[in-house]
Amino acid sequence: GHASNGREPRATDEQSPVVTVLERIRDEVAPRHEGRVADFIPELAGADPDAFGIAAVSAHGRCYSAGDDAAAFTVQSMSKPFVYAMAIEERGLDDVHQHVGAEPSGEPFNAISLDELGRPENPMINAGAIVTTSLVHGAGPDGRFERIRTALSSFAGRSLSLDEDVYLSEAETGHRNRALGYLSLAGGVLEGSVEEAVQDYFRQCALSVTVLDLAVMAATLASGGVNPVTGERVVSRRTARHTLSVMSSCGMYDRAGEWALRVGIPAKSGVSGGILAAAPGSFGVGVFSPPLDGAGNSVRGVAALERLSEDYDLHML
Ligand code: DON
Repeated sequence: GHASNGREPRATDEQSPVVTVLERIRDEVAPRHEGRVADFIPELAGADPDAFGIAAVSAHGRCYSAGDDAAAFTVQSMSKPFVYAMAIEERGLDDVHQHVGAEPSGEPFNAISLDELGRPENPMINAGAIVTTSLVHGAGPDGRFERIRTALSSFAGRSLSLDEDVYLSEAETGHRNRALGYLSLAGGVLEGSVEEAVQDYFRQCALSVTVLDLAVMAATLASGGVNPVTGERVVSRRTARHTLSVMSSCGMYDRAGEWALRVGIPAKSGVSGGILAAAPGSFGVGVFSPPLDGAGNSVRGVAALERLSEDYDLHML
């Protein structure tokens, strides 16, 4: 395990009681062998089912980690809250809300969940996230991905790069996402070209991260939009709150209710096996373990966050 309090979210060898807790949690969840590594994106199928990493970053920017804290994986759905935050910063909540709802769908992440107004139910499911990406304009769709990459890098406090193989693998096979994009176009809520939105969505999902990156990203939301490691204000306090609110109700898909009960802090999972969770005012946490449960959430990741929430009394209620 590692701890550091430098400006860089990179580890040193210093021992700390938090690291001891993270190491104990790693040892506790390691024997769990349920779940399956995602293979609907062919390039993800080769992930090591035994890999496990966990990191926590405090609101003061102290970084703690245990396990495979240097393992790289793609951010996948964990990109969704941050692109939602970008869209809100650019256009304001009311405008964004005309295009995508904020109700838990109670359905899988890739479901056709559109409300009576033609909007995807929320920005954490694929349908809503593709619409959110379409809303990020900046200087126009040219260069949109670069703006998204830059924003997610500011949340992480380091320059994130694209995993070209995972991107191409999803671009070749992600036809269901294209279909979701066309339904939103038909509903009048997706802006511009579906293919361009979907391509940028596939790219944002294929940004490569570590558990430390996830923890810093979550800690930035938990700290009201200021990255506690770099000191940079990335989004407004209000935008950070909107983002955490939607993560609370919709971040864990059709397990959002049980998550609220057992963990009780806003979180977002991804099919690569990562989960990021933000305890407002105190901690950002990142976990990685590829085998997923039936809802597409990491089995060991969920178990680890239940333990951590218990140990540090992170539950908001
Ligand atoms: O669009 C997809 O299906 C993937 N790029 C991301 C899905 C995902 O991470 C769902 N999370 N559990």
